[in-house]
Amino acid sequence: MKRRPIIEPFRIKVTEPIRMTTPAERRRILEAAHYNLFSVRADDVIIDLLTDSGTGAMSAEQWAAMMRGDESYAGAKSFFRFQDAVQGLTGMPFVFPTHQGRAAERILCSVVPLQGKVVLSNGLFDTTRANVEAGGARGIDLSLADALTAHRPFGGDMDLEAFDRAMEAHRDRIAFVVMTATNNTVGGQAVSLGNLTAVSERCRKAGVMLVLDACRFAENAYRIQQDEPAYQKRPLPEIARAMFDLADAFTMSAKKDAIVNMGGILAVRDEALAENLRVDLIRTEGFPSYGGLAGRDLEALAQGLHEVLDESYLEYRFAASGYLARSLIEAGFPVVTPAAAHAVYVDAGAALPHLGPGDLPGQSLACAMYLAGGVRTCEIGELMFGEHGPARQLVRFALPRRVYTQSHVDYVGAVAFDVAEVKAKLPALRITRGRGVRLRHFVAEMAPVSPFPFE
Ligand code: F0G
Repeated sequence: MKRRPIIEPFRIKVTEPIRMTTPAERRRILEAAHYNLFSVRADDVIIDLLTDSGTGAMSAEQWAAMMRGDESYAGAKSFFRFQDAVQGLTGMPFVFPTHQGRAAERILCSVVPLQGKVVLSNGLFDTTRANVEAGGARGIDLSLADALTAHRPFGGDMDLEAFDRAMEAHRDRIAFVVMTATNNTVGGQAVSLGNLTAVSERCRKAGVMLVLDACRFAENAYRIQQDEPAYQKRPLPEIARAMFDLADAFTMSAKKDAIVNMGGILAVRDEALAENLRVDLIRTEGFPSYGGLAGRDLEALAQGLHEVLDESYLEYRFAASGYLARSLIEAGFPVVTPAAAHAVYVDAGAALPHLGPGDLPGQSLACAMYLAGGVRTCEIGELMFGEHGPARQLVRFALPRRVYTQSHVDYVGAVAFDVAEVKAKLPALRITRGRGVRLRHFVAEMAPVSPFPFE
């Protein structure tokens, strides 16, 4: 029998046109945007792989659920559906909606005492780190030293030896531990349940709270099912539950694995902590039964949490990213593997050895993808983190959920092929404005030191 492709497990009911642009137009657009892709209008992008956050397509069931949104200020029916969905999935008793992931982080970080403390993690996402630091604590990443180059199934794991040493060294100064699954800062790689269990056991023994950053819990659960022998063939909801069972709290950006355009979740087991969080939530986000969201948002979120654990959806999702990774490798770009579901990360430093980190090779490659084919990606390297960041110069090709088809991915692969042909001629970029600004990648202005090799 002929091998059958893994297909998108959905049909398209609503479409959104893509405006085609010419190379000449894109040159003008990028120059006017000062070579910062965050300053390019979405309408000037052909394939937008900037982020998988909030960019997914909702299902017919999610849109139908939105019509059932109960917009009552207090005690809305939609809140109870949201609460049931989250409690049913995670077993966490105290559940709060927030307007997005970073709001959940901010509330947690303003309630848990942080001054003079440390937060240990397998990899803090930038907003989590910023919230931890705003509270006066230091965030310490203990990701595996060779996470980006070893090509092993669970590159997102915590380095347990480094973790043991840090637990010992900081002992009474640990505010909490964060496990980010999947681990966005090391190529979006998954965390094994074995590693999560080991971290959880150590935390419980030491009486330290373990917080799960659960943005992409479903994609992580699927990797566990595929690659961790003890959990093969186990149902995904069971694996997801095992992940949440190991944590004392979780924050989540629902813009990822709840497949909604806006929303977040904060949940904890401890009642006294929940009471304090509730007070902060009311002061900053909204009443606890809506927390910065509309009733209809809560409905779509509850439905999304159910849909995301569908095996054929996750199988297709990994097939799409794996396919993109293979196209990029064939084009000649080194890629972090196994590819995450939400994105493929290209090692621009290795692809463009004629450029040092200060020449912003990642941004040069990202600009080249835009100029050559209107593909928008995101630099994750020197521009984003400055000299304090991780040593690698990456470009993230993020895949919005249920938005692009295989022919779109083929198009990206073809553009990458064209860029690969001239990669030795891609120019360095210099920051002309906004160098020292915090989160400078959003606002910095840049210029190439010589023209890009596209006519
Ligand atoms: N944690 C992780 C691991 C994330 O990837 C993000 C967002 C957040 C927390 C914050 O959530 O955006 O809802 O406030 N990541 C996006 C990205 C922005 O492009 O990776 P948020």
